[in-house]
Order: sequence, then C-alpha cells, then structure tokens
Amino acid sequence: MKVMERHYRTVWMEGSIVKLINQPLIPHKFEIVAMEDHRATAQAIKDMIVRGAGAIGATGGYGMAQVVLEAPTDNFEEYIRRGAYALRNTRPTAQNLFYAIDKVLGEIEEAKADPKKAKEAAVVMAQQIADEDVAACKQIGEYGEELIKDGNNISTHCNAGWLAFVDWGTALSPIYLATRKGKKVFVYVDETRPRSQGSRLTAWELGQEGVPHTIIADNATGYYMKSGKIDLVIVGADRITANGDVANKIGTYSSAVIAKENGIPFYVAAPTSTIDLKCHSGEEIPIEERTPDEVLYAWGWSDQGIFERVRVSPPGSKAKNPAFDVTPASYITGIITEKGITKATPEGIRSLFT
Ligand code: MRU
Repeated sequence: MKVMERHYRTVWMEGSIVKLINQPLIPHKFEIVAMEDHRATAQAIKDMIVRGAGAIGATGGYGMAQVVLEAPTDNFEEYIRRGAYALRNTRPTAQNLFYAIDKVLGEIEEAKADPKKAKEAAVVMAQQIADEDVAACKQIGEYGEELIKDGNNISTHCNAGWLAFVDWGTALSPIYLATRKGKKVFVYVDETRPRSQGSRLTAWELGQEGVPHTIIADNATGYYMKSGKIDLVIVGADRITANGDVANKIGTYSSAVIAKENGIPFYVAAPTSTIDLKCHSGEEIPIEERTPDEVLYAWGWSDQGIFERVRVSPPGSKAKNPAFDVTPASYITGIITEKGITKATPEGIRSLFT
C-alpha cells in the first residue's frame, strides 16, 4: 500500500538484511529499520516492531533465511536448529510464524548436505512466503468486497490491515477494494487497548487510503451495535482451529457476542496459513500474556513532540494483560479466505484443504 505516494511492504529482504516498518512509531513517525541478523529479527518480532499474524509470519520466514545464510558449514544443522528455536520463541499465538518457519525448514531439508544450495533455497522460500501472503490478502479482498453494500458501516477490531500482513491486509482488504470500486463505506475502528493497534495503526492506514472512519473506545462498540449504526463486522485472526474457533486480539470475543445478540453478521478474514489443523479447538491455542506495563502505562507523543510513557493507573496497582481471546465458531458468520468464504465449521475448514 502507499505511504506518502510511495509503495511499501511491511517487511522485505535486501541481501541478508531484513527491513521492517517500525510500527510502534506509527502514526507519529514513519521509519524503516534494518535487522542485520536473525537475532535482531527475532527481537523485532518479540518487541512488536513488526506485529500482526501475516507480517510476523513473513518476518519469521526471512529470519529463517538469515539463519541459514549465517550458518557456518562446520556447524550447519545445529546452528539452524538453534536459530529456528530462537524465532519460534518470540510470540506464541499467531500461527503464521510457525507456518513460515516450518516452510523454510521443509524446503532446505533435502538440500542440507549442500549448504550453498540450502542457502539459496531458504531465501527463495522466504520470498515466496511473503509473495503468497500478498496474493492471498488481495484475493481475500476480492471475496470480502462482495459482502459489502454501498453505504455500509463496518466495525473492525485491532489492526488487520496491510501493516499486519505484507500488503493489503485481511479485514481491511475488502474495505480498500470496496472503496476503490466507488462504494461508500464508513469504518468504526475499535481503539484496541492496551496497545491501541486500532487507533494507532488501523486509523492511520484508513486515513492514508482516504477511507472515512472514526475511532471509538472498545467499550463503545456495543452501544453502536445496539443503536443500529453497524451493518457488518470484519476482523482478522491470529490462529483458526480445525473446528472454526478463532483466536484474535483481546476484545474480539466481546464484539462477536454483541454482534450476534444484535443480529449483525460477524466475519473473520484470514489466509489459510493462519489455520492450524493440529489444533482441534480454541482451548488448545496458546494465549500470549504480555507485560502488565502495557495496561498500567500508555505511550504517546506530547504536544512538545516527545515520545513518552505515562502512568494511567494508581502506583501499586497490578494488571493482567492477555493479548488474545478465542471466539467460538458459533459466533462467526463466515471465514473469508483466499480460497473463498467458508463456514466456521469442521466441514467448512476441511473444504479449504481438499
Ligand atoms: O499483537 P499483535 O499486534 O501482533 O496482534 C495481532 C493482530 O494484528 C490482531 O489480532 C489482528 O486482528 C489479527 S490479523 C493479523
């Protein structure tokens, strides 16, 4: 997508260096950062310099390519094993990370005896993962756009736009395409405390694309749903299980329950790389617990242009900070994938892989 008239992906590789958009600085500053080796790339995933399931996945793929490029011939396999371990242990919930690491490992399996061949294969596969993410998100946009009627008001949670993937995004891709096709669309953007991916990232993306929107506090979503202001909900996913349960940013479950109560269609948009067939139901998804500081403090730019942290809670109070929740399949109207829109049922999920 375009930033100040220039096309960017969220992540790409130049030689052995992984380049990323520094997401914590958005919307105040647009900056590209360079990760010189796989350790720096792993740290960037952990610190959420890059975040969002697809973007984490592509970064994990490139990080694996760095591991293979760095691996010394006399300790080739052990170095790769340790590098994969470091990348896997960055964030636990988004399936795309594990998908990408396994894809690169699978690709070099046969070439391992020939390190030069393996290095080439790893880079090619990492690039393929990123390119496939872009194609899948564009296709999700094409399918999802058909669900949007001219004049629709759409609610979304967190950021499932192009910043959360390599390009286009998932939940926002149908909105971008509908807008480009001339449909009038208005987006209610949940703020998404504590990291505020909605107000910081989704609102910024929509602004760059000229999509009309308003930010609302997370606890205002029910109010707008009940008062008939919202026609449709589209959210992303970090992991989808074999029975159609969906892990997504904390707060998604509340939104889904209130949508069902008010008869509002609730769609999840995700590439099939987010589906974990080994997970039978949402109870098996590991939910990331992040630092309480994200709840106890807020970050922002002061009017004096200083990026600072302020405490928004009493000194001494403790906090809990689960980063994701699971929405049971029964609350989901449909799942929009690059292979089409399917029901959130075991049969629906299975049909994507046959
Ligand atoms: O913790 P984050 O910012 O990496 O959160 C992931 C997400 O972007 C959301 O849960 C999103 O809605 C899913 S789509 C990638």
